[in-house]
Amino acid sequence: MIDKKVMQELLHKAKEAKKRAYSPYSGFSVGAALLTESGRVYLGANVENASYTPTCCAERVAIFSAITDGERKFSAIAVVGDSVPCMPCGVCRQVMCEFCGDDLTVIYEGEDGEARSLTLGELLPHSFRLEEKK
Ligand code: THU
Repeated sequence: MIDKKVMQELLHKAKEAKKRAYSPYSGFSVGAALLTESGRVYLGANVENASYTPTCCAERVAIFSAITDGERKFSAIAVVGDSVPCMPCGVCRQVMCEFCGDDLTVIYEGEDGEARSLTLGELLPHSFRLEEKK
């Protein structure tokens, strides 16, 4: 369980990251703040491209940045966008599955401005993960 105060702080950090989004094509900005088990926070903002497909979502920017820094264990990710609530897309949920268990806390903002959360297992049940070969 992530403390309510920590959840609000992560939402605040995600809002700061959202200000740095590069989204001239959709006009939709997203920010993410990823909390590692070691207590560090990695930020991400969506980065779009004129050819559309190379666009990377805020959540994946944060996750890939943390992985590049040697982090592999995550406890929570906060996501904010131009709509409330803003939930992670399916591709980002799958990428979360690669590195996180079903217990990852996904934090988002409710219409009342309060931090809410769901687990990754709730957002992506029956997920595809490669098992160790027997
Ligand atoms: N986007 C994210 O950054 N995260 C999501 O989970 C959903 C969508 C971005 C991608 C694109 O730049 C814009 O929002 C509109 O889809």
